[in-house]
Amino acid sequence: MKIVVVGGSGLVGSKLVDRLALRGHQVVAASRRTGVDAVTGQGLDAALEGAQVVVDVSNAPSFEDPAVTEFFRRATTQLLQAGARAGVAHHLALSVVGAARLPDSAYFRAKQVQEGLLRQAPLPATLVQATQFFEFMANIIPPGSGREAVRLSPARVQPVAANDVADLLAVLAEGPPSPDIVQMAGPESFRLCELVEWVMYSYQDERPVIADPQARYYNARLDDDTLTPRGEAVIGRTLFADWLDGYLSGAIRLPQVHHPDPMAPAQSPRPAQATGAIGH
Ligand SMILES: NC(=O)c1ccc[n+]([C@@H]2O[C@H](COP(=O)([O-])OP(=O)(O)OC[C@H]3O[C@@H](n4cnc5c(N)ncnc54)[C@H](OP(=O)(O)O)[C@@H]3O)[C@@H](O)[C@H]2O)c1
Repeated sequence: MKIVVVGGSGLVGSKLVDRLALRGHQVVAASRRTGVDAVTGQGLDAALEGAQVVVDVSNAPSFEDPAVTEFFRRATTQLLQAGARAGVAHHLALSVVGAARLPDSAYFRAKQVQEGLLRQAPLPATLVQATQFFEFMANIIPPGSGREAVRLSPARVQPVAANDVADLLAVLAEGPPSPDIVQMAGPESFRLCELVEWVMYSYQDERPVIADPQARYYNARLDDDTLTPRGEAVIGRTLFADWLDGYLSGAIRLPQVHHPDPMAPAQSPRPAQATGAIGH
């Protein structure tokens, strides 16, 4: 089967491309670095020609409003329209568990826009939602140094290995579209502050961590059930401790991608430049 993975060079995308190729599919890893821009539509028709399945695991380069919303709105619209034109039989897109429960976050609002477009897709589509990847959790140590305390939400998280998500996506890509959202989470749940403290400890970062229910995550306040799945979910097999051992020993490497800091305070959108303004 010809399967196009949009965002095929990314964290989960590169793992999915490897798995689909091993399963004998003709896989196209589509992203800007291979000449395919989902936002402008450049290269999309050529990439999708003859494809049966498209998996969208692209991600926005900026997590700020309005750029992030524009990214998911334009990319999702372009991909669905190009898929319908090419006669694609199944479009899958990866979103985040709890996207609809974080209206204060620009990123999660943008994911809701993507999910809304998926629900009205002009071709058969499956929405998959995963919790935070281990890889992402290992990189969210807040900036700072010395003994300066770090304040983090004690809300529950249930992260999952990107490998396990890629395994699930590979199986779903070979199957029929699902009318229901497919949720995936890891096998264990942690308090966010404890998990990050554990990772910090592994890096010999000994700053005290304070559990603060008001601490923001992508500018949103979290409750215990904000980022964890409700109802049925596929549960990954990999344990965080095993994954972290592999990561810290260098056995697990991450692709070169930019993930904005979820603990950073939200920036206000840059004011539009006045036309005809005098100056530089
Ligand atoms: N990371 C997590 O913890 C997590 C958890 C749950 C769900 N998700 C979801 O999973 C998806 C993938 O996340 P990720 O962390 O694997 O992403 P990532 O590592 O940041 O990779 C992003 C990918 O998108 C591509 N891309 C960016 N702009 C593009 C454009 N205009 N056209 C085509 N491709 C473009 C990038 O390649 P180029 O730079 O070559 O364009 C790259 O391959 C996201 O939708 C995210 O919401 C992520």
